[in-house]
Amino acid sequence: MSELHELCRLQQRPIDQHYIKSLQYFLKEGIPSTYTLEEAENFENGKDEELKSTTTPLHIICSNLPNDLNKDEETVVSEMIDELFSYGAGWNLIDSNGDTPGDILFKQNKQNSIFYEKFVDAGVRAEILLRKINDDIEFISDEEFEVPEAVEEEQQPEEEQEQQQEQKEQINHAPEVQQQEISQEEFNRIKNELESDPANTQKTYLETKLEYKNGALITKDNLDGVMMDWEYELMKAGCETIFKSTIPNDDNKEDINEINILNIGFGMGIIDTMIQEKNPTHHYISEAHPDVLDKLKKDGWYEKSNVTVLEGRWQETLPNLLNEGVFFNGIYYDTYSEHYEDMLELYDIIVGLLKPTGIFSFFNGLGADRQIIYDVYKKIVELDLNNYGMDVKYTELKTPNTTAEDMDNTDESEWIGIKRAYWRCKTYYHPEIKFI
Ligand SMILES: C[S@@+](CC[C@H](N)C(=O)[O-])C[C@H]1O[C@@H](n2cnc3c(N)ncnc32)[C@H](O)[C@@H]1O
Repeated sequence: MSELHELCRLQQRPIDQHYIKSLQYFLKEGIPSTYTLEEAENFENGKDEELKSTTTPLHIICSNLPNDLNKDEETVVSEMIDELFSYGAGWNLIDSNGDTPGDILFKQNKQNSIFYEKFVDAGVRAEILLRKINDDIEFISDEEFEVPEAVEEEQQPEEEQEQQQEQKEQINHAPEVQQQEISQEEFNRIKNELESDPANTQKTYLETKLEYKNGALITKDNLDGVMMDWEYELMKAGCETIFKSTIPNDDNKEDINEINILNIGFGMGIIDTMIQEKNPTHHYISEAHPDVLDKLKKDGWYEKSNVTVLEGRWQETLPNLLNEGVFFNGIYYDTYSEHYEDMLELYDIIVGLLKPTGIFSFFNGLGADRQIIYDVYKKIVELDLNNYGMDVKYTELKTPNTTAEDMDNTDESEWIGIKRAYWRCKTYYHPEIKFI
């Protein structure tokens, strides 16, 4: 263990200014803020082994945070974290347990601490910066966060470079990829894997056979959960929220002359059934998958007098509504195999389709297989919608503990027969979005 790592173990109390001075000394001397325990071990033992994890000084600080820090010590530790960030430390690197520093804090129930907040803010800053660098097209992944860089073997023509940039963006969604240079061959392998994954690539999803089975809608061969009935309560909250806009008050008299509701993504029809029970004037359903559209036909949705089914991707059907001048009291969004960049595109349309007192909500599964990412997205959504003059209010709802990792090997786990869990957090941040 290097002296930098030893310092970050915070063993000597009180934790005072000498920690800051020593840390600054190491960093100024050129020790990287991301110097890992694994690198130190390789160095000390004269090894050149491939590194499988990245336990950084930030991980060590978070793992060793005393529970009895006084205010002054808290300030010093905060300054140490800031100092490491200012020297380029990553908020999202993964240690040998698969944890980021923020995950370590969360596991110690320190999610309300100023330290956890710092990691969330660092994630938000990184996202905003990436967008700036990549002209609003690069995003932290919903699934994982390390960005591999392909080794450029030769100079490529501009078109090829552009294509490769697009591919890199896709690979940004790759799970568990270490931040390291990868060969062109490895790059192509990951690219192909992602393109053929229906959960990642919408074109592949729309060509994939689906099956309604045991209270779930799944991809037939891949066994991905597209929609599952454990989300029933979340859909109920979504329906109640968008209909709040229809309760008469001083502001919405004109808006409620007719009640128009739009749901994007039919899935199992859970929320659409709830919407129908409230008998809106017009109920629009946007759905893109042919097997789901068959289900809508079979179940008689096309015959309902107040229902209009918008067949095809919302990206193609909703702009027509803008041209027709249809406005909505409530809009709900819950699709599959889309990413946050799709939502940003959607916001542009939502602001045009919502009545002044309308309410927008969505299934908030953004980054929900890792708490820190879920918290980062919570803030990003707020920031982005504020830019549209919209306010986001989150209500915290409990999700079934049968979705949790420690239930995986029990008969009650929600993920039996499903390839991968898409939900791991204990609390759901239910969004209610209105014009400010
Ligand atoms: C998670 S399910 C929706 C579940 C629904 N909220 C319910 O209560 O059952 C997602 C649905 O969105 C549809 N979908 C995915 N991408 C879409 C797109 N771009 N436009 C319209 N529908 C889409 C999927 O085919 C799927 O039926």
